[in-house]
Amino acid sequence: MKNLEPCTLMIFGAGGNLARIKLIPALFRLETAGRLPEKMVILASSLEPWTREQWLDEVTAMLNNKYPKGYDEQAFKRFRARLHYHPNPPDDADAYRKLHKLLDEDSTFPPNVAFYMSVRPSEFPGIIEKLGGVDLLKQKNGWRRVVIEKPFGHDLLSAQTLQSSLYKHLEEPQIYRIDHYLGKGTVQNIMVFRFANILLEPLWNHHYIDHVQITQSETLGVEGRTDYYENAGALRDMIQSHLLQLLALVAMEPPVSMTPEHLRDEKVKVLKAIRPITQNAVHAHAFRGQYAGGTIDGKTVPGYMEAPGVAPDSVTETYAALKLFVDNWRWAGVPFYLRTGKRMAENSSAISIRFKSPPQNLLRQAQHERSHPNWILLGIQPNDCLKMELQVKVPGLDLNTRTISLDATYHKGGEENYDAYEGLLLDVMLGDHSLFLRIDEVEWAWRVVDPVLKVWSMERDFINAYPAGSWGPRGTYRLFDRDDQFWRHSLDIDGADLQAY
Ligand code: BG6
Repeated sequence: MKNLEPCTLMIFGAGGNLARIKLIPALFRLETAGRLPEKMVILASSLEPWTREQWLDEVTAMLNNKYPKGYDEQAFKRFRARLHYHPNPPDDADAYRKLHKLLDEDSTFPPNVAFYMSVRPSEFPGIIEKLGGVDLLKQKNGWRRVVIEKPFGHDLLSAQTLQSSLYKHLEEPQIYRIDHYLGKGTVQNIMVFRFANILLEPLWNHHYIDHVQITQSETLGVEGRTDYYENAGALRDMIQSHLLQLLALVAMEPPVSMTPEHLRDEKVKVLKAIRPITQNAVHAHAFRGQYAGGTIDGKTVPGYMEAPGVAPDSVTETYAALKLFVDNWRWAGVPFYLRTGKRMAENSSAISIRFKSPPQNLLRQAQHERSHPNWILLGIQPNDCLKMELQVKVPGLDLNTRTISLDATYHKGGEENYDAYEGLLLDVMLGDHSLFLRIDEVEWAWRVVDPVLKVWSMERDFINAYPAGSWGPRGTYRLFDRDDQFWRHSLDIDGADLQAY
């Protein structure tokens, strides 16, 4: 466990969903685990004119909500002592000057400061500008860092514009562009699995891998976030960042070392190698859909169009799927199928890697079922797991085969389970960029999705619907290169028989 310096973590947008559901509970769990530096202060800020006491009540409510069965009272006492509040109402022209005074003159606040932008993307530049305007981003007596949530821009151009506005006040090492998928245990396990084991390396290429599927599906809908989601859609919200990061980790070359720059250099090379989707090819490579009403967990749920704030002619996609090719020596010709959707049949994030079939089917006579290729399955959530499917002989006199799943689930009972944000918050305090995005990664990821976004933004009269609670719109099979490729919905053997849409 590394020692952390005393610091102030300032959260802008502290009353919002992300802070309530993720950041405050993650910080509290770190407190409970004794992982926060002794001299660390959490300064929350939002538009609300709350006092410190009112903020403490808010936090108590957040934690009661998150942990209805109770929590460690001693830890809670320590945690409360760290909490402070700075109101930042829009009509207070003096709010940033007051903040400067607080951070610079009040010794309660250690001079190392991380500013967490837990606000709408459109608000990032304004806040940075104001922080810079009152000289709060200069690293004089301590470090100053800024954590920026995704999406970073809404296309390449706007990402570059946002970047220039940040560079007016910040240097690249001060910026932490967060992608919380990189904080998930199994996502980090992709690197361990690949680079701490030699047996896979000879197989990890186009000679042996038929295709790769990366899926993120959730049963939740847009949950009151339509003001953001209407202008984002699934491709920007999930694929541009999270799913392309997963693809990069699966496809990258072993880095020279595990230092942040070496790691990120390799991810950038993968993103650069993704074959650009030309506008003419968008229909062959991309599919979008929007959920209609349906049933989830036995309950009827309304469609996206019925959510408050959705435009009557909205073609915002709540489902997106892409076929991508990584045009390099290792991956030439291997399709990577990415898909994500809201209001789907299950909550599931997984990477499924299908191997090619043996060059000759010597056991044709022995198969009582259709031959199954080998798969490697990396489950990210709800359960992190690692499985490998192989063929074995069925016991008995006849030479019959069946598929078994070697389950190398690496989580043992009692082992620490943590939320992605916990590790990422510690990394910010530690100054470790490994799990944060460098600007060139963000730019290359936009280059991948921009042509699709452009075509979709022009085609405004039709979007495929899918019933809530299903696996997405019909017709997505047209993305597959061959008839024997199907979406894999489940990581269990029984679920491997697959639906064609
Ligand atoms: C966020 C998206 O980045 O990731 C949300 O904005 C999505 O729309 C969420 O629901 C999914 O994260 P997780 O960790 O629940 O898979």
